[in-house]
Order: sequence, then structure tokens, then C-alpha cells
Amino acid sequence: MTSRLWDKGGAADAAMLRYTSRDDWRLDQRLLAYDLVATRAHVRGLRRIGVLTDDELFVMDGALDELVEKNGAGQLVLTEADEDGHTAIEAALVAKLGDVGKKVHTGRSRNDQVLVALRLYERDALSDLARLTTDAARALLSLARREERTPMPGYTHLQRAVPSSVGLWAASFAENLLDAVDLVRATAAIVDRSPLGAAAGYGVNLALDREGVARELGFSGVAWNPLGSQTSRGILEAQVLSAAWGALAVVRRLAWDLSLFTTSEFGFVRLPEAFTTGSSIMPQKRNPDVVELMRAACAVVQGALVEVQTMVALPSGYHRDLQLTKAPLLRGLDEALTTMRLVPRLVDGLDFDRERMLSAITPECFATDRAVELAASGVPFREAYRRVAAELETLERGDAAGSLAARVSPGAPGDLRLRELEARLAALT
Ligand code: ARG
Repeated sequence: MTSRLWDKGGAADAAMLRYTSRDDWRLDQRLLAYDLVATRAHVRGLRRIGVLTDDELFVMDGALDELVEKNGAGQLVLTEADEDGHTAIEAALVAKLGDVGKKVHTGRSRNDQVLVALRLYERDALSDLARLTTDAARALLSLARREERTPMPGYTHLQRAVPSSVGLWAASFAENLLDAVDLVRATAAIVDRSPLGAAAGYGVNLALDREGVARELGFSGVAWNPLGSQTSRGILEAQVLSAAWGALAVVRRLAWDLSLFTTSEFGFVRLPEAFTTGSSIMPQKRNPDVVELMRAACAVVQGALVEVQTMVALPSGYHRDLQLTKAPLLRGLDEALTTMRLVPRLVDGLDFDRERMLSAITPECFATDRAVELAASGVPFREAYRRVAAELETLERGDAAGSLAARVSPGAPGDLRLRELEARLAALT
């Protein structure tokens, strides 16, 4: 069994230890690669300020190489006895290097060690999320191009409202997703500052090269205030999850619409065959389980977000409560990434039923066009509105394609401004 970093000879209650460690060691397995990278940057920083000699750094570097390799091969397996990943790394260095290994923790605390590992993990996860969300936006934008003028009813209150298009519908998701990417990137910019060197939250009596360490880790700067670094924990995780929620909220709306539009009542669209599931009893069923779970994914992320938000109602300084923000962070981001990864293929395979959509554009859908037409010819709009309302019964089904073409207010079906959205997309990639 690895001995605890904080072992000072007294006996610790076994049940208390299990209670405090919980599944932290299992979660730390996911962060271990980042912890190792940060450990290497830390020891190099120690060399630069003369805390380690060249020889000591040389052997530490070698030992860390081995650990990185072992971890990459899945052979650095944490166990409950390790308490956490930080303990396991120090124990491995001590086992290999003896007294030199015992120098690794000079000027750092597990508090800033976990902070930096989390930020490095979040940096990767947010970059994946930005890329996958951009991919989803791209798929929806090319759907908008393909079906630019395909008529589809537009709804308000889930009641038929005006003639609209698949182009407008699809591009709405694309633009919302582009907004979500902006938020993911803005969040990544905040994550992109190194907390390493904050130690327990109050700095140390060593001239740590925090900037050099940050640079080596690829951060764009340092989160300078040690207490501020510490107290960013949890709040930052909530912001990360909130950015993921923003992206998934758009997917949830897409999923909702698809679960409605694929019903035989609507019949507007069919999911790709490979994206439907069957029923164990009803032979005829082709179920949209996948879109239902995509809708639920947003709830999973939201639950994780609320869990973190609730946990960080704390006074200044480190508190062990913070450990419990790790599981929801990982769970929420996993859910967001696996969900977002599926969106493009789902969207690419959608098969629209033009007839059904067209026949759902009933005469009253043209009432607004008619009122605006009258208003454009000089009738005061309120008067035109009343006139059309009085003649609703006799209103004829207009020409949907004509209605779309005439709706030229920028962004509307006649002028979707797809080029503008495509330029936004191109600027992201
Ligand atoms: N597992 C701990 C966490 O996630 C690591 C930091 C422990 N620090 C401490 N002072 N007990 O918060």
C-alpha cells in the first residue's frame, strides 16, 4: 500500500479514509496524464531556480518519461490504496529515485496540483467540444444549403404559423451552435491560465518560475493570485459545464423537433435507418431512441452543472468539498462530447418528405403574407390585419415557393444569409 503523503505516524481510521477518498482515485486515473505533464513542468521550474541540480532533474525527467510511457500503455493503474493520483506519482518517483524523488513536492501542494491537472484536462475537452460543435454547425449549414428553399411550415406555440423552409430551420441550429462555440472558446480563454505555483493557496517562500512553468504547459498566462487560483476551482468547472450546456441546449431543440417531425402525425422527416432502434414486442417500430437520448443529454449536463454550483458555496481557501466537483465535471463533459460527436451523421442522413411538409402549409399560413402585402401597398397594417382576419375562411392556399422567395427580409427564407453563416464557420476552422 502506498503510504499517505500526509502520514506523520499517527493512525488514521480506515473507514474515514475510504469515506474521504471515495472514488477519487478512479477519477484521477483520467487526470493522471495531465498531472504527469504538470509535474514535469514543475520540476523543470525547480531546476531553474536552483532547488534541483542538473543531475537531479535528469533522473527525474527519466523517471517521468517512464511513468508517462507506462501510463500511456495503461499500466499505471491507480488503486484505492493510492488515495489519489498525486500520491501515486510521488510514490512512484520515490520508489524509483529514493531521496531525489522526495524533492518533487517542493513548492507545490496537492491543491494546485489538482487545479493544474483539471485546467489541462478542461483545455483539451473544450477544444474537442469547440471542434465537435463546429462540425455539427457545419452539417446543419450544409443541410440548409441542400434544402434551402424546401417548404416546411413554421410553428409558433406548436401551431402552424407561416410558410417556412427546411433551410431556415436547419440554419437556425447552425447559427445557435456557432454562438455556442463562441462561448466555449471564451471559456477556454479563462481556463488558459496556469494555477501552478499557487501551492496551498497562499504561495511559498521560493521564487518559483510560474511564468516559465505556464509557458512550458502551453498556457497563455498565469492565474496570479494564489488564493484566486484556488477559489476558481468549482466556479471554473461550472463555467465549463455551462458552456457545454449551451451547446447541448441547441441539440436538445433539434432532438425535440426531430422526435416530433418523425411521428406519423407530422411525417416530415425520417431518421437514417441506421439511427433507429426496434421494439422488443412491436415488429413495425422504428424508434427514435437516439434523439430522445440526445435530448436527455442536456439534462445530464445540467444536473452536473447544478451539482457543481451547489458544491462551491464555500468560504475562501481549499475545502475538501471541492473534490466532489470532479465527478460531475467528467460526467458532464463526457456526455456533451459523445452526444455532439453523433450529430453530424444524424443530420447528414435526414430524409425529408417534401409532400407532407407542403400539404401541412394550409391556407391560413398565408394570412400574414397577405396582411403585409396589403400594408406594403399603403393600407395601414392594423387595417390590413383586420381585413385578412375577417376573410380567413375564404383565404386561398398560396404558393409556398413564392411565399418563401418573397420573404426577403435579411435572414428570412428568401434571403437566408447562409453565406454570412458560412463565413463565420470558416473563421472558426
Ligand atoms: N483529491 C483532492 C481534491 O480533489 C486533492 C486535493 C487534496 N488536498 C487536500 N488539502 N486534502 O480536492
